[in-house]
Amino acid sequence: MKKTVLVSGGAGFIGSHVAVELIQAGYEVVVADNFSNCDMTCYEGVKKITGRNDIPLVKMDFCDAEATEKLFSDYRIDAVIHFAAYKAVGESVLKPLKYYSNNIQSFLNVLETACNHGGCQVLFSSSATVYGEPEKLPVTEESPRQSATSPYGNTKQICEDMLRDTVHATEGLVKGIALRYFNPIGAHPSALIGELPRGVPNNLVPFITQTAIGKRECLSIFGNDYPTPDGTCQRDYIDIVDLAKAHVCAVTRMLEGKMKQPYEIFNIGTGRPVSVLELVKAFEKVNNLKLNYKFAPRRAGDVTAIWADPTHANEEMGWKAERTIEQTLASAWAWEKHIAGK
Ligand code: UFG
Repeated sequence: MKKTVLVSGGAGFIGSHVAVELIQAGYEVVVADNFSNCDMTCYEGVKKITGRNDIPLVKMDFCDAEATEKLFSDYRIDAVIHFAAYKAVGESVLKPLKYYSNNIQSFLNVLETACNHGGCQVLFSSSATVYGEPEKLPVTEESPRQSATSPYGNTKQICEDMLRDTVHATEGLVKGIALRYFNPIGAHPSALIGELPRGVPNNLVPFITQTAIGKRECLSIFGNDYPTPDGTCQRDYIDIVDLAKAHVCAVTRMLEGKMKQPYEIFNIGTGRPVSVLELVKAFEKVNNLKLNYKFAPRRAGDVTAIWADPTHANEEMGWKAERTIEQTLASAWAWEKHIAGK
């Protein structure tokens, strides 16, 4: 019998790509979302890509404990992947309690319900933000976590700890994996699902694509005086489809009893540092266009450079990032044109 995976926040950017890969790998998927930061576009896209019209969609909020309990009772959930959370770093500094109450409460309800329904496995969507400004690069899973520089980052650390402690308290009945993402970018090659930022994008790639299509006048590159080869910040940009596939590997590892510890952590990145300027130039080249950009002052809270050592995920999960930065940037541009109706 097929295993069923609940994807909380499954109508969003990462969740929808993960839903596609899970279905294509032979899992049943239940999508649950409160639509606070997305619309039906990606859910409809998932149906089109997979040719499945019967993917259960539950409109609900994981902060609602009763609704969470009901969901687990209505569907026989073997594993849950928890994405449902607020994610704007800047907003979290201005409205910390919004982030603490939503991101912590929703995960608390998921964990409590997973415990009540004994034996449900939990995959948590964490972030490289837990490493702060790393002392040594690339970062491995053993690199120390640094104290968070934003309430958003703090919720990721707290949720990781909640998962670890729950796994230990249940003596492994509930198992957990935290995936620490680096910078997820791009869109599905079909251009049917992708990122749909509301208002002015905070993240680099949506700002680039919106500038290229004429929605924004000019990209500001935040800082060109960092101690990096070209003076701009370096990140590990990971293709969204590669990232989604890492979730399939992690869920399979959990459900097939291949975990070496009941709580495991994996870095999900490419191991390849790319500077902001290199990314802009690669985008121009692969899509054969010129981008209007200027150098601007540094953005508060940015780390100079961070990239992953993905060896642990490569060797233990048999997962590896495959898409080139060119393929990824072409997919981001195709998606932007798709949503602009061009
Ligand atoms: N940048 C610009 N101009 C922009 C937007 C971004 O120059 O308009 C630069 C940033 O200064 C940074 C790089 O592009 O150097 C990447 O910025 P993003 O905002 O796209 O991503 P971050 O690395 O800041 O943040 C991402 C996720 C967070 C996560 C963090 C942890 O968005 O959720 O990685 O590593 F917490």
